[in-house]
Amino acid sequence: MKLWAISDLHLASGINRAALAALPHYGEDWLIVAGDVAERSDHVRLAFQLLTERFAQVIWTPGNHDLWTVNDDPEFGGLAGPAKYRALVDLARTYNVLTPDDEWPVWVGKGGPCTIAPLFTLYDYSFRPEDIDRRAVVAWAKEGRAACADEMYLNPAPYSSREAWCHSLCAEAEARLEALDPLLPTVLVNHYPLRRDLVRMRRIPRFSPWCGTALTADWPARFRALAVIYGHLHIRRTDDWDGVRYEEVSLGYPKHWDRGAGVRAYLRQILPAG
Ligand SMILES: [Fe+2]
Ligand SMILES: [Fe+2]
Repeated sequence: MKLWAISDLHLASGINRAALAALPHYGEDWLIVAGDVAERSDHVRLAFQLLTERFAQVIWTPGNHDLWTVNDDPEFGGLAGPAKYRALVDLARTYNVLTPDDEWPVWVGKGGPCTIAPLFTLYDYSFRPEDIDRRAVVAWAKEGRAACADEMYLNPAPYSSREAWCHSLCAEAEARLEALDPLLPTVLVNHYPLRRDLVRMRRIPRFSPWCGTALTADWPARFRALAVIYGHLHIRRTDDWDGVRYEEVSLGYPKHWDRGAGVRAYLRQILPAG
């Protein structure tokens, strides 16, 4: 029994959909899916269906792309961020996929016991240089050839801004983390890196404001993380810092992965630690 993780399946791509469908069965193993499954609900449904057929338990947290308002979606078309999130949680529950809003499971397989905590925190533009005003971020990023389509498609209503939504989500997640059994370590799962120093994008460094929030920096240490699972950057890597394993587990767009290897090669084993 193993715990695996992947993120950023980006199933708007037919290449990614075909590759996901080619995954074999993993018996009793569990899978973490750390966001950016797809913009359209039929593609998210496909992922939940395919993955719950292949893994004994699937744990999901949303990425920014999942929350976009897309109009060519017969089921969830037109839903704004928070409402789309709730619709995705309801969809996940029909497949018995665990979400941030469910009771967080305890992994009792090898490498456990530990609580697996799927988090949803979003970002608040705090990963920007101190001398750049919040209102200047988009222009500053553009000067460095960075832009985020969330500015057009990720609607935070009824929140006044994405940062207001982020701050509400962080308060909620932090309260739940504080209420966990203090004797158990954790595996923290989030679409976004929990620490700013994990955001290292040499090609587009000015994309950082869309990559997380300073509010979560001390969560790995405070909440006893064995491992922190994240995606969003589309730059796979492993860092071992102060006894915590940080795993960026994204698949990404077809240009980010080797089709010959298949999705299987991009599943990261989290527990037992390799
Ligand atoms: Fe992504
Ligand atoms: Fe993302």
